Amino acid sequence: MNGQNPSGPDELHDFLCDLARRAGELQMSRYERPGDIREKAPKDIVTEVDFLCEDLIVQAIEARYPDDAILSEERGGEIAASGRSWLVDPIDGTANFARANPLFCSCIAVMEDGEVTNAVVAAPRIGDLYHARRGAGTFRESNGETSPVKVSETQSLEYALVGADMSLSRVSKRNQRYREALDEIFSGCWQFRALGSAGIRGAWLASGYLDVSVGTHNTPWDYAPTVLLVTEAGGRATDLTGEPWSPEAEGLLATSGGPLHEELLGVFRRGTTPG
Ligand code: IPD
Ligand code: CA
Ligand code: CA
Repeated sequence: MNGQNPSGPDELHDFLCDLARRAGELQMSRYERPGDIREKAPKDIVTEVDFLCEDLIVQAIEARYPDDAILSEERGGEIAASGRSWLVDPIDGTANFARANPLFCSCIAVMEDGEVTNAVVAAPRIGDLYHARRGAGTFRESNGETSPVKVSETQSLEYALVGADMSLSRVSKRNQRYREALDEIFSGCWQFRALGSAGIRGAWLASGYLDVSVGTHNTPWDYAPTVLLVTEAGGRATDLTGEPWSPEAEGLLATSGGPLHEELLGVFRRGTTPG
C-alpha cells in the first residue's frame, strides 16, 4: 500500500483524514447558512458550501499529489486506468445539510490498481470521523478518542437493520429494475433506516449500527469509502451481482458478511427484472 507498512505511519492517510477534518470545519462554519441552493437535476440539489468544500479538497490534493487523478462529484474528472486516483464527495447528504439536519459528511477515498486503499467519512456535526486503510482496520475518532470498529454478527435478513438509497420517486429504469428486490428486502428485514447520507450509512454499517447498506446508483464517490470501511471492519462489499465492487458498478451491496450477504445476493438474483 503506497510502499508503506499498513500498521505504521502513513503520510497519505494522515493527509486524507486531515483534509476531511478541514472540510468538516468549513461545513460547520456554514451550518444553518448553506448559501445559494441550486437544483442541478430534478430533486438533486447542491449548495454553495458543496462547491467551497470541493475547492478546498481538490486544490489540496492537486498541490500535494499533482500526478494523481481526481474524480469529484460536482466538478467531475476521472479515475486513472493505472496509478492513484482520488474520489471526492465534498458534502454527502446535501439535502440534510441544506436543512441543518446533522447527518452529513465529506467522503474521500483513494483507489490504486482497482482497489480502494484509503477512505475517510467525516461527519462533523455528530463529531465522528471514520477512516480505514487497507490491511489496517477501520477506526472511529470521536470526542478526541480513536477506537477500532467492527461489523455486527447478524446472520439473516429477518434480524437485519437495513439502510438504503431511497429516492424511488426519481423513477429511472435502474430504480425500476431493482424495485422488486428492494421491496423484498424492505419487507423481509427487521427494520429499515433511511439516513440521507450514503457515507454515514457505510460508516454505521462498519460500526455495527446497521447490518446492510444497499445502493442502486452508480456514483462511485458515494460507495468507495463504504467498500473499505466495511471490509476492514470484517464485513463484505460487492456489486449487486456478487462481483467485486468497481467504480463502474451499478450499485453496492455491503453487509456484515457471512450468510446474510449470500441471502441478499439471492434476493437480487431473483428480484431483478432484466432491462
Ligand atoms: C446522496 C446521499 C443520499 C443518497 C443519494 C446520494 P449527495 O448524496 O448519499 O443518501 O440516497 O443517492 O446522491 O447528493 O447528498 O452527495
Ligand atoms: Ca453523495
Ligand atoms: Ca455530494
